[in-house]
Amino acid sequence: MVRILGGAAAFVVVILMAGGVYAADAAAGKAAYQKRCVACHGADGKGNVGMAKALQVTIPDFTDAAVVTKLGKDGIQKTVASGKGKMAAIKGVNKEELDNIAAFVGSLAK
Ligand code: HEC
Repeated sequence: MVRILGGAAAFVVVILMAGGVYAADAAAGKAAYQKRCVACHGADGKGNVGMAKALQVTIPDFTDAAVVTKLGKDGIQKTVASGKGKMAAIKGVNKEELDNIAAFVGSLAK
């Protein structure tokens, strides 16, 4: 457990230093992402394969910079707020959380 936490802390430091694709509060976004997105998009952002199979859809790979850049910060926020295709809107996410989540998703891109 300590090792996992250490790894997570190092990961956050890397994000803060790199800034990711978008600079904002990626650390806060990570917490929100883990609560609201992880079940389908996976902790690493590559997408939950089992979920994709069950829904018969391709879940975008957030570690692919080309994918994240194409979606854009606004696109990510709009998807969360309004839903897209087989993803239903995620209810009760305020503007600040949307910003932070988009920043975190941007930070996953390699
Ligand atoms: C219940 C499962 C589920 C949850 C929870 C979920 N998503 Fe998704 N998401 C999907 C699926 C499935 C797709 C693919 C939709 C499609 O192509 O029909 C998707 C697609 C997306 C896309 C790409 C949209 C596009 O334009 O192609 C973004 C961005 C996204 N999700 C962000 C998020 C974020 C951020 C969260 C958390 C706030 C989240 N999702 C929570 C299932 C989920």
